[in-house]
Amino acid sequence: MTVTRKKTQAELRSARWFAPDDLRAFGHRSRAMQMGYAPEDWVGRPVIAILNTWSDAQPCHMHFKSRVEDVKRGILQAGGFPMELPALSLSESFLKPTTMLYRNLLAMDAEELLRGHPVDGVVLMGGCDKTTPALLLGAISAGLPAIYLPAGPMLRGNWKGKVLGSGSDAWKYWDERRAGKISDSDWVDVEAGIARSYGTCMTMGTAATMMAMAETLGMTLPGASSIPAADANHIRMASETGRRIVDMVWEDLTPRKILSHDAFLNAITVAMAVGCSTNAIIHLIALARRAGQDIGLDDFERASRKVPVIANIRPSGDKYLMEDFFYAGGLPALMAQIREHLHRDALTVTGKTLGENIEGAETYNDDVIRPVKNPIYAEGALAVLRGNLAPDGCVIKPSACEPRFLKHTGPALVFDDYPAMKEAIDRDDLDVTADHVLVLRNAGPQGGPGMPEWGMLPIPKKLVKQGVRDMVRLSDARMSGTSYGACILHVSPESYIGGPLALLRTGDMISLDVDKRTLDMNVSDDELARRRAAWKKPEPRYERGYGWMFTRHIKQANDGCDFDFLETSFGAPVGEPSIY
Ligand code: FES
Repeated sequence: MTVTRKKTQAELRSARWFAPDDLRAFGHRSRAMQMGYAPEDWVGRPVIAILNTWSDAQPCHMHFKSRVEDVKRGILQAGGFPMELPALSLSESFLKPTTMLYRNLLAMDAEELLRGHPVDGVVLMGGCDKTTPALLLGAISAGLPAIYLPAGPMLRGNWKGKVLGSGSDAWKYWDERRAGKISDSDWVDVEAGIARSYGTCMTMGTAATMMAMAETLGMTLPGASSIPAADANHIRMASETGRRIVDMVWEDLTPRKILSHDAFLNAITVAMAVGCSTNAIIHLIALARRAGQDIGLDDFERASRKVPVIANIRPSGDKYLMEDFFYAGGLPALMAQIREHLHRDALTVTGKTLGENIEGAETYNDDVIRPVKNPIYAEGALAVLRGNLAPDGCVIKPSACEPRFLKHTGPALVFDDYPAMKEAIDRDDLDVTADHVLVLRNAGPQGGPGMPEWGMLPIPKKLVKQGVRDMVRLSDARMSGTSYGACILHVSPESYIGGPLALLRTGDMISLDVDKRTLDMNVSDDELARRRAAWKKPEPRYERGYGWMFTRHIKQANDGCDFDFLETSFGAPVGEPSIY
């Protein structure tokens, strides 16, 4: 591909560090030489940062330790100078209390790593849940040419010849064990078989969703988000990503040029069609606002009414996983199926449009990637509900719950925190029926803190034993994208800051109507006013440190949970660092 150079060697940002004839640049050059580099390594070559979220606590990015060498190979081939910069790895599996507490910290890490170092462009290496939005958030604010390298999903799980899906089968077999239907040794074997290669969760959870969002937004090479981590195609895609970013620097192709309003509408459309994680709403709103685009819950609601779920991937689908999705043609094939709903002239990192990138994409298995006329769910994956319980909105994933719950009225069983819920949920004398609505509050952005993935509340053990596997659950928490069931999430404003959920009491009737997009507690305004007057603001969760800053600046779920001071609209852009 011919590269149109929009800048000269002298105009490279890194030249500010390396080119001047002064004492400070002497220091930069001599320290580069300390590492064994010669001027031939950097003179006239774009310096490409590689933000690598590898760590010993990050099983989903285990291959990044070697994959980064493939990225470097590509950068060197294209005439760039690779500079690997480790970034927070945000391991969904190990980091507590929840990675969402730290998404914005990685975003800040990424932004400041890029701003402070002599780099001209960046390859972002992520995949495990929050790493994708966090790295993109940082890169948008840094403003340098950036390309995303998705970690890719792990291989299918396997247990006694049965296919296991990340998360989804953990919840499923946990309930089977609680019901006494599988043995302790079976459970240990499930544990050993559910995650058997490097790569991200391989259901359509948050990781797969957000990698698909990165591709749809135009921030990855075509098809990159669907390639299994352990497939040799992933290695080739890594080196190709390295080659491409060097050209992007010369073309001055920055995220701002790619992340148009249409690009975000495309992402929302594809989110609906893949049966996305509910977390996509929060992350896409945050990303859009960083990119200066006015995107909100209403955009999701509009897409939800017109775009069907056509990816037959669990948990919305009942059978297939990301490996099957890749073999069926992957994301380009899915986008080709819904091309009429897409803004195909949106620009991408290839320098071509989305429409050009998906030209000729074929579906090889139309049970995995369904045609629009044979969807797995006729409307989009998510529905936004509003009412006196959630005046600023909440979300449900109708494609992943039993249809009988889409219209439901039942009494609330309210828990004020997770330990109280956990203590009560397995009691045989718990006063609960399958018609109850299980409620967990104080689990939002400030209350959690960090809005943990607690929203798929466990079914009470006495009901599990009766065969109940789904019931309506309600919280201001999030849930894992691998979760399923009639879970109403992200209730905004959250209860911890006095949202109406704080006023709900056990026994109050709750009415849910997904078709009408409503969620209400059937309590009179007078009674709510009395409860409001009696409500006491809880103590702050933190009195120092990062958590203190988090609780003062985190925005609510409907606003994307960014820090207010990181939002683009907060103040003038940060300039280049001075070098003296
Ligand atoms: Fe990393 Fe699920 S734990 S993607």
